[in-house]
Amino acid sequence: MNPLEMMKSRRSIRQFEEREIADETLNQILEAARWAPSWANTQCWEVILVKNPGLKLKLQQLLTDNNPAARAMTRVPVIIALCGKLETSGFYKGSAYTKFKDWFMYDLGIVTQNISLAAHALGLGSVVVGAFDHDKARGILNIPDGYELVSLIPIGYPHKIPAPPKRKELADFTHLDRFRTDP
Ligand SMILES: Cc1cc2nc3c(=O)[nH]c(=O)nc-3n(C[C@H](O)[C@H](O)[C@H](O)COP(=O)(O)O)c2cc1C
Repeated sequence: MNPLEMMKSRRSIRQFEEREIADETLNQILEAARWAPSWANTQCWEVILVKNPGLKLKLQQLLTDNNPAARAMTRVPVIIALCGKLETSGFYKGSAYTKFKDWFMYDLGIVTQNISLAAHALGLGSVVVGAFDHDKARGILNIPDGYELVSLIPIGYPHKIPAPPKRKELADFTHLDRFRTDP
């Protein structure tokens, strides 16, 4: 499948088969993460592979009520907990370089897409989970000061691939030359 088809056919997967992921396959996903672009190549990400069933259960309990990804948390062989080092991306010699200050969320977003697409390319499925109690999860995973845990990404072999949710039309978000607010 070509990369454009990969991007279109990737779905958030929330139902998984009970099947292990080979270390080699997992390493291919991490390798894709490794090659993500980042601010001045600062590579502020840190990845925790959560495989311990007790930890997965504890993290599951921190998801927001009715989070559709809740069941997935304990059904997958691995959850990637994606963390970022603070005051690194977007910083130069200790000072923020732009009005947005810390760009770690931006860089982690790109890594996330690399992870999601690599998983898809390897026949795996994943879902990005952002709605949970981040501070409690930090404690459970021993995240040190100066780092934030941003997302949890359960990965496994898909049991069910959902229909694609609707997208905006190109004309709904594309502007020519200047931002137009009139319809
Ligand atoms: C930053 C971010 C946070 C998300 N958090 C959750 C979440 O907490 N629970 C969940 O079920 N899906 C979550 N999702 C998945 C989105 O709901 C999903 O990407 C969107 O509905 C589009 O569907 P698709 O990924 O199949 O194209 C999140 C996605 C992103 C990018």
